[in-house]
Amino acid sequence: MKLSSRVRSLKGSATLAVTARAAALRAEGRDVIGFGAGEPDFDTPDFVKQVASEALAAGLTKYAPTPGTPDLREAIAARMRTRNGIDCRAEHVVVAVGAKHAAFEVMQCLVERGDEVVVVTPAWLSYRPMVELAGGTVVECPAGIDVGFKVTPERLRAAMTDRTTAVILNSPGNPTGVAYSRAEVEALAAVIADHPTATLVSDEIYEDLVYPEVDPAVEAFSPGSMPALAGRTVTLNGLSKSMAMTGWRVGWAVAPGDDGAVAKAMTRLQSQMTSGIPTFIMPAAAAAVRAQHETSPAMREVFAGRARLVAELLGGIDRFRTVAPSGAFYAFPEVGACFGLASPGGRVIDSSAAFAEAVLEEAEVAVVSGEDFGEVARNHIRISFACSDAQIRTGIGRIAEWVASLR
Ligand SMILES: Cc1ncc(COP(=O)(O)O)c(C=O)c1O
Repeated sequence: MKLSSRVRSLKGSATLAVTARAAALRAEGRDVIGFGAGEPDFDTPDFVKQVASEALAAGLTKYAPTPGTPDLREAIAARMRTRNGIDCRAEHVVVAVGAKHAAFEVMQCLVERGDEVVVVTPAWLSYRPMVELAGGTVVECPAGIDVGFKVTPERLRAAMTDRTTAVILNSPGNPTGVAYSRAEVEALAAVIADHPTATLVSDEIYEDLVYPEVDPAVEAFSPGSMPALAGRTVTLNGLSKSMAMTGWRVGWAVAPGDDGAVAKAMTRLQSQMTSGIPTFIMPAAAAAVRAQHETSPAMREVFAGRARLVAELLGGIDRFRTVAPSGAFYAFPEVGACFGLASPGGRVIDSSAAFAEAVLEEAEVAVVSGEDFGEVARNHIRISFACSDAQIRTGIGRIAEWVASLR
């Protein structure tokens, strides 16, 4: 069978591949520490499960409106108004199968063949295929470890052209674990405001996981709340990270500009694609959204402690360069000093992919190679610290010992 050129060159998600490989090794009885998955280790709060069970029992098993029930969209709009300061109504909200699906649809709705989309890198590895599948070209705007993984307004300005259709910002960020301050976001937004044809896509999926304990300046701030950009910002969010609901597949886009033109287009697209998310999940998602401000701070507290622990432990590895995570649950050390060295198992470490493979096979720790996160990320590995302090100590301890044994 002939495959389309679109999918022939499409790579599967490297993070999901590492997670699957770690699971396969565990099934063989190996004691693998998993720093691969971008998934909180907490369980979904019981009250959310309860609402979903009751909805099932009540027979909510038929089709529901494509962009979400009015109640769920109103719950989300209310949160985006009060928590994020975004002037929006329920009809500006589209609920999708995770923020990943929402982001995919946004790209389909905004990007024309030949359009440029500026992606600040290191960036979540799904942005590039989403842009390219929509026919667009990714322009990487490098924000490497030299600038603490934070893009400067000057660099952003240099990356934007007349063909820039969209700019994707993601704070707190995957894979860097870095959050911006409000002033930093405002300065970037001012650059985008100067390009009247560009839309800002602000991916705020980690907004509840910000650690002023690590960097007092960082804050969850939505540029969609700024008058200069309110009509030109699409804000992405969801329940996966902040409510430990990755498997429920609930994310959304909020797009109030042009009387909800993007939200309407997304709804048309989704009506031909997946339709709505499962009907019995909608009331549970609404309950989760309404309780998010009470439930997620406890998880944030735990992650903040882990962020400090990870920074301390990685700081002790001489061959690594690391920025202390101030958001999300990732650290993104630069491991280039290991390249050219040989491992105890006889592997030559010549790339971050080789590093990730060798550390998994020889030290039994799953990390993700930086290669798919952008050119500037090539010499890095991503460590997801969505696991216990004990696993963090053991896993980073194993990495440290293994790195010290490279010759
Ligand atoms: C930056 C970023 N955006 C969006 C998502 C999508 O999350 P979900 O589809 O689970 O809502 C992820 C998940 O890893 C992410 O890291």
